[in-house]
Amino acid sequence: ALMANRDLVPGPARTQDQSKASNSLVSTDGFHNEPDTDPALPANRAWGRKILSRATGSKFGTDEVTQATISNEATIEKVLARGVELGKTWGALPAEERANVLDRVGQLITEHRAELLEVMASEAGKTLDQGDPEVSEAADFAHYYAERARELDSVPGAEFVPSNLTVVTPPWNFPVAIPAGSALSALAAGSAVIFKPAPQANRCGAVVVGLIRRALQEAGHDPDIARLVVLSDEQRLGERLIADSRVDRVILTGAFETAELFRSFRKDLPVLAETSGKNALIVTPSADLDLAVKDLVASAFGHAGQKCSAASLVILVGSVGKSERFQRQLVDAVSSLVVGLPRQATTQMGPVIEPAQGKLLDGLTKLGPGESWLVEPKKLDESGRLWTPGVRDNVKPGSEYHLTEYFGPILGIIRVKTLAEAVRVQNQVEYGLTAGLHSLNMDEQRYWVERVQAGNLYINRGITGAIVRRQPFGGWKRSAVGAGTKAGGPNYLIGLGSWKKSKYRG
Ligand code: ALA
Repeated sequence: ALMANRDLVPGPARTQDQSKASNSLVSTDGFHNEPDTDPALPANRAWGRKILSRATGSKFGTDEVTQATISNEATIEKVLARGVELGKTWGALPAEERANVLDRVGQLITEHRAELLEVMASEAGKTLDQGDPEVSEAADFAHYYAERARELDSVPGAEFVPSNLTVVTPPWNFPVAIPAGSALSALAAGSAVIFKPAPQANRCGAVVVGLIRRALQEAGHDPDIARLVVLSDEQRLGERLIADSRVDRVILTGAFETAELFRSFRKDLPVLAETSGKNALIVTPSADLDLAVKDLVASAFGHAGQKCSAASLVILVGSVGKSERFQRQLVDAVSSLVVGLPRQATTQMGPVIEPAQGKLLDGLTKLGPGESWLVEPKKLDESGRLWTPGVRDNVKPGSEYHLTEYFGPILGIIRVKTLAEAVRVQNQVEYGLTAGLHSLNMDEQRYWVERVQAGNLYINRGITGAIVRRQPFGGWKRSAVGAGTKAGGPNYLIGLGSWKKSKYRG
């Protein structure tokens, strides 16, 4: 994405006009993607350091989380009943009115970029370079879904019937963009929202919902149309909430197992879930190897590999597997990554969200049969959260590492002879979220696109960081549960309500 100077306006806030600066991405249909902050500009780096200096003692969202904490079933019942009531009023409004609220949310997100970066660094371990595109993405979701909402009222021959109530359960790894996108899609489609953040990112969720509530209130609507709930007992109260038949939709981003758990609460649960991934990038001998290393490292170790979209495998085809230069560049790039806390401006890779344990700890410390460390991960302190990135070599197709999602800073290398074999290895996993190919050969590109089983395909680019409208995001196979379409794509809102045929001819 193109980049912006955050110092156009003094201080952290920017106005909407600046966000439409000439350097934002503009599509042929006139949609502007919000530009990210350009770290090459000294003024932006100073702005960033100011944010980081506040991150340690940051309290954003704390009061809201306390107020929203629910510890009994009776309160859940009240929240549900009120949500249904508010959903009816909200859904009965012309889509244009809802869309206007969303546009205002997008504006508020942009104006509060600094606060959002601060809370992400302080609570979720996000470095500025990782958090910044997330703020842009959140604003993009607001404006994009506003536009799509405006279309809902004008489909010939069919009438969109909004749902009353949607429960949104976002993840902690994208604690601003995914919460915003999920909540705003439901609101755009005319549903009230009960928003339950991931416990690791409660405050981030509270800040996002706070901006949505502010926009609702400014426009004269009840802010409880978007309601934050934090559950003291996730298991018991979560089931009480989700299993209730008044909940029309659940939008979940999380592990495949969580989607399964939700469905065990209620068989007919209409869940739209974006779930796990085990994503690989293929590099063929016709690739630009320098670019491949750069994209691979960013995709594998951005946010310490804690992305459903992350590259946790690279499949080297033919001579690339024997290239000393490629291997040396990869080792140099990975071992020079500066690991540290996000509040240090020099940090390139932050901590993992919780002390590494279970599967992740195994991934960081144990090798499978025949494997060896090309770069061995090291625990940097007693917290168990700071690890240097690891690269494991000689991963065997079909092995545990090949097929399992670890969600951390580990990359595995598989070597194969042909592109055909590489695609088979890439498709051998149960998931199908993102996939990459680095090759400058168009025949190879075509061959790959026709065969690879993943929702999001990237050629000669990293495999994380989908951009709203340009790269609608969603998975295939075990990376998606429910019949949703891709987030940030043209049809996402359609699945959030139901359709009835109009009385008149369309
Ligand atoms: N939408 C996120 C990405 O593309 C998950 O990386």
